[in-house]
Amino acid sequence: MDEFALLRRIIKVLDEHENLRNHVKLVGDSLSDYEARGNVRKAQEDWEPVQSDDEAQEMERLRKTFLVLETGLQNHFTLEEELLPPLIGDFLTRALLIEHGRIKDGIKKVKSSITGMAEVGLTRGEFLSRDSELRQLMENLRSLIDSHAQREDSILFMLKIVLAEKTG
Ligand SMILES: [Fe+2]
Ligand SMILES: [Fe+2]
Repeated sequence: MDEFALLRRIIKVLDEHENLRNHVKLVGDSLSDYEARGNVRKAQEDWEPVQSDDEAQEMERLRKTFLVLETGLQNHFTLEEELLPPLIGDFLTRALLIEHGRIKDGIKKVKSSITGMAEVGLTRGEFLSRDSELRQLMENLRSLIDSHAQREDSILFMLKIVLAEKTG
């Protein structure tokens, strides 16, 4: 790949980081909307062990928003894992792969936690603890994605300096 093409792809990865940050925020908003619906049920005097229609609808929206994030991340990782290794060497590549693995793990946990929320027959206590578990998992995932992207940004900016110099 010539240096112009490399530079373009580095800039693309940087842009994708911006999009990913925005999308993580969308998932957070969607989770808040979903929880707001759940709060209606929690506040009822008699606990209903089945999701309301409104909750189910918000959950569907949350699931879809999350799926877009998951797909976006997968494509992003594929691009990075193909583009970066020859530019950053063995050690940093290993770090890159370890962090991608941690993020993929976080995604799996959030997904199964979302599914667990819809289970029929949960007691109010179980519902509350799953609710806070999901929020915690999502917060962990957000912070993993943010800090990883931040570390990559520094590396990408350094690569950009070299390539910009060479391509004039
Ligand atoms: Fe990455
Ligand atoms: Fe990245």
